[in-house]
Amino acid sequence: RTQGLLDSQGRQIRKLRLSITDRCNLRCMYCMPVDAAFMPPQTYLTPTEYATIVAELVELGIESVRLTGGEPLLRAEFAEIVAALVAAGVPQLSLTTNGIRLVPFLPLLAHYGVRRLNISLDSLDPQTFAAISHGHHLETVKAAIATAVDQGFQVKLNMVVMAGVNDHELVSMVEYAKGLGIEVRFLELMRIGYACHLGSDRFVSAATMIERLRQHYDLRPVMRPLDSTSFNFETACGGQIGFIASESQPFCGHCSRWRLSADGVLRACLFKEAGVSLRGLSQRERYAAYEQVLGMKPSLRGAEVHHAMHQIGG
Ligand code: GTP
Ligand code: 5AD
Ligand code: SF4
Repeated sequence: RTQGLLDSQGRQIRKLRLSITDRCNLRCMYCMPVDAAFMPPQTYLTPTEYATIVAELVELGIESVRLTGGEPLLRAEFAEIVAALVAAGVPQLSLTTNGIRLVPFLPLLAHYGVRRLNISLDSLDPQTFAAISHGHHLETVKAAIATAVDQGFQVKLNMVVMAGVNDHELVSMVEYAKGLGIEVRFLELMRIGYACHLGSDRFVSAATMIERLRQHYDLRPVMRPLDSTSFNFETACGGQIGFIASESQPFCGHCSRWRLSADGVLRACLFKEAGVSLRGLSQRERYAAYEQVLGMKPSLRGAEVHHAMHQIGG
């Protein structure tokens, strides 16, 4: 093993978020407009290119890869990509999905050891869910969550909390997750891409969420790895609750993540537009690119960015 990916601030890069498509079958109100423009699929990296790049990064110390999108299950070569990444020696492979198309993929995921699934669920009310996701069915996602849990997958729920939209559902979401024995994480609305069009009056801070939840639960802090996106609590009656407070309490100081977009741009930070394209580079040039990207992680994230979350990879 080489010296690894250690930046000048002492942050070791251990995790790669791999966006394998910028497309999505939902149009969440904070993510993309109905007429969103997408990359031409011919610009996507191929399964072989992912395998080559990821094998190099594993050699440099990447310990886990999370598949993201857009919606990763929409990528036509999804199965080939998973197989190629496993063959490339990724120690830990996980998936973030909206759950709509998840059920038929569960056997494949189980076969390749992809046990950790983060599923977005922004509401438990069918109408609110449809309003947020632009007409999709809550029941499809709930059925996928139940099936995945039933089959032994380690599921976490992600709920983006918005004032006046779903912020009255914190307790019902905790109860739902508790009933399934899984963790729920409440996300502050991040000022990225299309979300910037939502007024700041939609924003709910983690502190506010915690204050409201404390009226119902006795919350005890739980230790998490330093580079965790969330800080967590457990309730006295069981149930893990996490908060991803990227706006009010940025967690850049211990960030261990890089992201690779579907068209092959490697970025050091979600909130930094600049990155380095790995497409068509020789091995020598790629190693030079890794060195370059190592110097591109800011010590603290910017206030907002205009590039789209679904293009960078959430
Ligand atoms: P695990 O810790 O493995 O469960 O995954 P995760 O929390 O990193 O992944 P997930 O895809 O569920 O992401 C949850 C939220 O955290 C999403 O909104 C991501 O955009 C956000 N997120 C992930 N990594 C970063 C990061 O480095 N910086 C910021 N600001 N947000 C991030
Ligand atoms: N702020 C917070 N979370 C967001 N996500 C997408 N856009 C935003 C945003 N602007 C969430 C999705 C998914 C996760 C990967 O990121 O809902 O759960
Ligand atoms: Fe799709 Fe995820 Fe964006 Fe929603 S947040 S539109 S599920 S990529």
